[in-house]
Amino acid sequence: MTLRRKSISDLQDALPSPSGRKQAMARNFSRAALSYDSAAYIQKETAQELAQSIAELSLGAGAEVLEIGCGTGFLGAALAAVLPGANFLFTDISPNMIHQCRLKLAGVLDQAQFAVMDGENLALDRRFDLITGSLSFQWFDNPMETLERLAGLLKGQGVLAFATIGVDSLHEWRSAVSSLGAEYESIIPTFPSAADLASAFPDSSLVVREKSKSVRYDSARDFLDGLKCIGALTTQSGEAILSSGQLRALLRRLDEVDAGNDGFSVTHNILFGQYRRGEIS
Ligand SMILES: C[S@@+](CC[C@H](N)C(=O)[O-])C[C@H]1O[C@@H](n2cnc3c(N)ncnc32)[C@H](O)[C@@H]1O
Repeated sequence: MTLRRKSISDLQDALPSPSGRKQAMARNFSRAALSYDSAAYIQKETAQELAQSIAELSLGAGAEVLEIGCGTGFLGAALAAVLPGANFLFTDISPNMIHQCRLKLAGVLDQAQFAVMDGENLALDRRFDLITGSLSFQWFDNPMETLERLAGLLKGQGVLAFATIGVDSLHEWRSAVSSLGAEYESIIPTFPSAADLASAFPDSSLVVREKSKSVRYDSARDFLDGLKCIGALTTQSGEAILSSGQLRALLRRLDEVDAGNDGFSVTHNILFGQYRRGEIS
């Protein structure tokens, strides 16, 4: 008897629908899919740096690669250049992001599949030589548990290599917004430290490298507009956006911040994590 591998859509049918927070987030990213590239400075730079570190892994020809949260395809485009002959599966929870990624990579990659999928609830029954994601894992509900689960989807010597946002990020934004009061806390995201990430893996087998990246905006309002452009305004508690009254108060506060400053710089503390299955240091 020949056993047929189930298709991705067969496997997806068996999964529960994503949480309300995730659906709101996916809608926000979908709305931003066309404007994303115009404001995603840190994302583009980080994807290129992650691809460079992946190039150094010397994965063999024909490597099976899964990307989670591919967005419009910055990492895909960079990986296409450094992993010739790899078989890519690009996934994202937002259908419009997948569409943009498909357009960006058309003609660049011969061997690529695309699927709308929640990276925390993967509809997959195969293993990979590389599982990667650039600035997408910070959107997970349970990042630590998910990292462990992803490691379980690696082939024998497979590698999990990702970039995510670390605890020391956005301190300028935090101090501008925190003076507004408790109801604004939900728009100040919390991120893990390198030690938090490493704790998901026993025996220091996840290596984490940190790098700070700053972007200077003309004003704090411009930074907020940039977040809107990339679709990153879903709060961690699940509301998609602030009420109009809250937004007005926030903009007033940002104007005060802008009045005393020449521009507004925002620092991201990027954590680059790498884990090789079967390797314990
Ligand atoms: C900030 S963007 C980064 C996109 C891309 N990796 C880049 O570097 O430009 C975050 C992406 O992760 C996706 N995402 C968020 N949570 C996800 C999840 N649970 N599963 C799959 N994709 C997710 C979003 O839809 C969005 O496209």
